[in-house]
Amino acid sequence: MNILICYHSKTGNTEKIAESIAKGLESFEVSVRPAKDVDPNELKNYDVVFLGSGIYAGGIGKSAVNLIKNTTSFPKNFVLFSTHANNDPRYYGKAFKKVEKIIKRAGSQIIGAFDCIGENKNPKVVKLLLQSSPELEPAIELSKGHPNDEDFENAKNFAKSVIEKLQNK
Ligand SMILES: Cc1cc2nc3c(=O)[nH]c(=O)nc-3n(C[C@H](O)[C@H](O)[C@H](O)COP(=O)(O)O)c2cc1C
Repeated sequence: MNILICYHSKTGNTEKIAESIAKGLESFEVSVRPAKDVDPNELKNYDVVFLGSGIYAGGIGKSAVNLIKNTTSFPKNFVLFSTHANNDPRYYGKAFKKVEKIIKRAGSQIIGAFDCIGENKNPKVVKLLLQSSPELEPAIELSKGHPNDEDFENAKNFAKSVIEKLQNK
């Protein structure tokens, strides 16, 4: 099985999750790359494409969106993954909506999704957020240190199981 793991990561959290996913798939042919380095025309070369991003203002990163918008070469299977600072789905739950719509319209399927908390490592953004929405302080505190070893292990096991399920179909 030929697998691509690609991601948009501004501060490294989602990149680390991408690497954990790759660790779970060591027995396969896997390429791990930032989405900006992926040619939209190559997606069809893979059996499964894992597409990941941090969540920024409720959406996913531009390079991840553009990859899907600019391809006509859809693989059969996608897996989505993300990291987000707030654990309330109101702050991240709709991030992949546009991309999901394009994927489904093209006839591809989304065979799984993984997400976990990722500490916001941009102090300026955190400061502004706390000024405008002080009620978010507990969520910000909770996010510190994530993704952690448990998140990495979860991502690795998730990847293993999603591919095993596909193989057993
Ligand atoms: C500019 C900016 C906007 C963000 N907006 C959100 C948001 O809307 N919802 C959320 O849960 N987290 C938000 N976050 C937190 C990030 O999603 C989180 O830290 C994520 O792990 C970042 O991933 P990365 O390190 O791969 O870039 C934001 C972070 C930044 C820097």
